Amino acid sequence: MGRRHAENLRLVPEAKLLAVADPATERARLVAQELEIDHAFSGFDEMLALKGIECVVIAAPDKFHAAAISAAAAAGKDILCEKPIALSLADAHTALQAVARAGVRLQIGFMRRYDPGYSNARKRVEAGEIGEPVVFKSLGRDRDAPPIAAYQSKLNGMLLYNNTIHDFDLARWLMGDEVAEVHTFATVAIRPEVAEYGDIVASVVNLKYRRGAIGNIESYVQAVYGYDIRTEIVGSKGSILVGNLQQTPVTFLAAQGGTQPLADHFLTRFESAYVAELRDFVHNLVHDRPLQVTAEDGLRALEIAVAAGTSHLESRPCAVTRRASSAA
Ligand SMILES: NC(=O)c1ccc[n+]([C@@H]2O[C@H](COP(=O)([O-])OP(=O)(O)OC[C@H]3O[C@@H](n4cnc5c(N)ncnc54)[C@H](O)[C@@H]3O)[C@@H](O)[C@H]2O)c1
Repeated sequence: MGRRHAENLRLVPEAKLLAVADPATERARLVAQELEIDHAFSGFDEMLALKGIECVVIAAPDKFHAAAISAAAAAGKDILCEKPIALSLADAHTALQAVARAGVRLQIGFMRRYDPGYSNARKRVEAGEIGEPVVFKSLGRDRDAPPIAAYQSKLNGMLLYNNTIHDFDLARWLMGDEVAEVHTFATVAIRPEVAEYGDIVASVVNLKYRRGAIGNIESYVQAVYGYDIRTEIVGSKGSILVGNLQQTPVTFLAAQGGTQPLADHFLTRFESAYVAELRDFVHNLVHDRPLQVTAEDGLRALEIAVAAGTSHLESRPCAVTRRASSAA
């Protein structure tokens, strides 16, 4: 992801990428060489000390996000950090306090908001084209499950924190309401060994909104037939569907051929969204305009993920606990 952001920054005229950092030093050096970036560091702090850096993009594994946000904030840098903002609410609040203390700006990488389909859907909901939103439905399926080593490393949050978090953000943003309660059903079927690492292979999370709407989100790590992303907002006057809807009696999807061509990966499905995200972030910094995806958005989505995780562990519906954001 870091490499993709580095490539995309070349498409942002108002930005100049000065340096990359990765503890895998050779990886940083190679990216710098290929993309003609002047500096490659093995340490993030080392990079932060480089003169001339005004903002940073954090694409380290999830576990390091909160500490990296705090370090970048303390160094006075504006920040675009990949989701999730942190892996615990305590870490998120510590990071947000650092951001508030330093007076820097923080955007969270919910790039789906920059996808033409999703942004069109949001505009239509806001314009009242479907009336009052009543039901939110979303699904996110990766084509290939992560290798078992990825679970073993524990560098990233479980499915609800790392993947479903995008839908938790969409659930708030598209419905214009906050999720008040969640009930998670999850399974490790087809790959029971991931339970050992506190993870799951598929989940459905039912949602109840504050103003009375309801919703449902499905996540699955191993769709095999492609990267499948769909969202629907059903309202009092109609429905908006982002994704495929073909009026045929049956749609067959399989690893080798099927009746629908699909993107293979998030980097292809959301190719333009990643670029638009960086352009908007940099543009708003340069022109001192408010960021479109805020630290508070990162915190709110994490709060839903934490409640969904607790619901899964305790097999019960769980209220989404809301705390004030230090940087909101
Ligand atoms: N928005 C999206 O659609 C999207 C998609 C994929 C990944 N992500 C997020 O991006 C992040 C990176 O994911 P990835 O798939 O590229 O992971 P990855 O494991 O492929 O790459 C992570 C890189 O970070 C480096 N790293 C480890 N610790 C570091 C540190 N402290 N400082 C700097 N670099 C460090 C690793 O050496 C590695 O090169 C994750 O947080 C993930 O959730 C977001």
